[in-house]
Amino acid sequence: MHGHTAWEDYTVTDGQSFTPTYRVPEGVPANWAVGVLGLTGLVAYFGVHEIARPKPDETLVISGAAGGVGSIASQLAKIYGLRVIGIAGSPAKCEWLLHEAGVDGVINYRTEDVGKRLTELCPDGIDIFFDNDGGPTLDIALDRLRAGGRVVLCGATSRYAAKPQPPGPVNYLALVMVNGRMEGLLGRDYIPRRAEAVDAMLPLLRSGRLKSKEDVLVGLREAPRGLARLYSGDNIGKQLLRMDPAPGN
Ligand SMILES: NC(=O)c1ccc[n+]([C@@H]2O[C@H](COP(=O)([O-])OP(=O)(O)OC[C@H]3O[C@@H](n4cnc5c(N)ncnc54)[C@H](OP(=O)(O)O)[C@@H]3O)[C@@H](O)[C@H]2O)c1
Repeated sequence: MHGHTAWEDYTVTDGQSFTPTYRVPEGVPANWAVGVLGLTGLVAYFGVHEIARPKPDETLVISGAAGGVGSIASQLAKIYGLRVIGIAGSPAKCEWLLHEAGVDGVINYRTEDVGKRLTELCPDGIDIFFDNDGGPTLDIALDRLRAGGRVVLCGATSRYAAKPQPPGPVNYLALVMVNGRMEGLLGRDYIPRRAEAVDAMLPLLRSGRLKSKEDVLVGLREAPRGLARLYSGDNIGKQLLRMDPAPGN
């Protein structure tokens, strides 16, 4: 079994929030197993494929675009033939999105006016907004949804540590005006369908069309720093921690 527990050798648990260990296909490296072919990849795959239900040539905008989920979802959306605009928080992330993930446009939300840039990059509006950060960008995107627009609620990194919690989106009535849909996605519900995602993504990974971008720290002592990087935005791609076999780690 594996699941949510502490960074410790032994855990006392009632078994809640644990899921069965799964066997990955022969030759799949461990980093893929816990990243692109793990929960991170499941969320990206089913979020794009089933919640967004994309049609070719539609425009998808994604926040947290260069993170673990975002880096995979952005590439999958490109592979499905969408026009993709990635929103991320550093020049290095924007570079990676443009030149490695192959998205069509990027916005650095820390230095640019997101609304103004979205209007420039998506003059006809947005068909799909894939939200990983849960911040003010959601309201900005809601304002620009096209008829039949969809919002995929994947995560809300900007809200997790915020005290007090900021108010929710105010522009939700925009969904009424465009017959839109906003839908949450819980990755663990898709665990029974993992094989579908693996079957779809593994050939893409092996051919190099889909890149598994990873940010690897080594040693359990680095675990707190790894977690903090998700909030500082220092990670590019999936934040992983590899156990150092040396004694004391
Ligand atoms: N629904 C599910 O079942 C499910 C499953 C897995 C993950 N998730 C969610 O999906 C999201 C992405 O997860 P991940 O593991 O791939 O993490 P991640 O995107 O690799 O890392 C988090 C990123 O959030 C961004 N961020 C941090 N503080 C922010 C802020 N105040 N405002 C805006 N962005 C901020 C940073 O990127 P920038 O540099 O771009 O700011 C950071 O790199 C998370 O919200 C996570 O909880 C949901």
